[in-house]
Amino acid sequence: MHHTKQILLHPQIQSKLPNVGTTIFTVMSVLAAENNAINLGQGFPDFPMSEELVASVNEAMKAGHNQYVHMNGYIPLRESIAEKVEFLYRTAINPDTQITVTPGGTYALYTALTTILQPGDEVIVFEPAYDSYIPSIELNGAKAIRIPLTFPGYKIDWPLVKNKVSERTRGIMINSPHNPTGSILSSEDIEQLRAVTQDTQIIIVSDEVYEHLIFDNKQHESILKYPDLMERSFVSFSFGKVYHCTGWKLGYSISSPALMKEFRKIHQFNCFSCDTPKQVALASFLKQKENYLELGKFIQNKRDYFQGLMSQTKFEALPSYGSYFQVYSYKKISEESEKDIAIRLTKERGVATIPVSAFYTSETNNQVLRFCFAKNESTLEAAAEKLVLL
Ligand SMILES: Cc1ncc(COP(=O)(O)O)c(C=O)c1O
Repeated sequence: MHHTKQILLHPQIQSKLPNVGTTIFTVMSVLAAENNAINLGQGFPDFPMSEELVASVNEAMKAGHNQYVHMNGYIPLRESIAEKVEFLYRTAINPDTQITVTPGGTYALYTALTTILQPGDEVIVFEPAYDSYIPSIELNGAKAIRIPLTFPGYKIDWPLVKNKVSERTRGIMINSPHNPTGSILSSEDIEQLRAVTQDTQIIIVSDEVYEHLIFDNKQHESILKYPDLMERSFVSFSFGKVYHCTGWKLGYSISSPALMKEFRKIHQFNCFSCDTPKQVALASFLKQKENYLELGKFIQNKRDYFQGLMSQTKFEALPSYGSYFQVYSYKKISEESEKDIAIRLTKERGVATIPVSAFYTSETNNQVLRFCFAKNESTLEAAAEKLVLL
């Protein structure tokens, strides 16, 4: 009898993201869990969200809001978003044509990039950059043109931006308040952005998930404040960040009617419609302005509390004007690389942080770590107690 040897064929695919491995975020979270460390690495609150909002999601489910909702988002929610934008930024947005509810801010950014990019296009990205930006550009066959923010202020070097703009520049990504550094854009930055993009085909992709997490009476410079810039922008938001429910993964994108029309063609086949009961609950919750108007102060108190605790350590604070995050220099403590000290602090001191170098694609070491202070006071106290000993 003739036996044919069975050959197991493993299908081979070509990686779309050959340079992406296990990120330091995953490494740090696993390490934090293994070492039972206090996790000031990942950006999520450890305090509860509004019970009222949870109850109204329950009510919406009980009332039968459990089937597909409108593809572009539950209409009353889009109307509430438009009212909020008008109230905050004095800009009239058409909820029919300019707002799309999405499964989170990251998806809104990805879809915006997919909408505008053709292979070979270039997108200007500032580093340190939120980890999804560059992979989202590259998955679309486009090229990320990385520009470092100045250190230690983490500001945009506009002359350098002008230098990097070319015929191929299709987009500029901005993020204010900024993850990981807590820096914010000023009205002068907006002027510069206008000057750079005027009379070009450049689309601005603005990540404003931390719009309310802004401190010291500073004003959030939303693209939505500037109708001329809105015409060439996609602006992304996240309910998870506003209402302390990052696990909900619900957000929205705002743009001009013409750009949003193209965005929705992609959204239609990638997601179609988002979680219904949560949208129903948010439609009325959004009308309670105090919930978002008081948020900046609430998180600022946490920043201040954490800064007070950390002033007893050898860590030196860099300014944070917004977001969940503050960057600290460890220059007075060690010569180690950011990654090495972050790993050692997790293992030996039981406090997990994120090396800011993780937000750069090229080797960078400014001897700084990112701490998330959106935590209960007891969590922040426990962490600082361990760091005082260094
Ligand atoms: C700058 C920035 N953009 C977007 C997101 C993601 O928002 P979402 O969870 O709604 O996708 C985050 C979350 O950490 C972020 O820090």
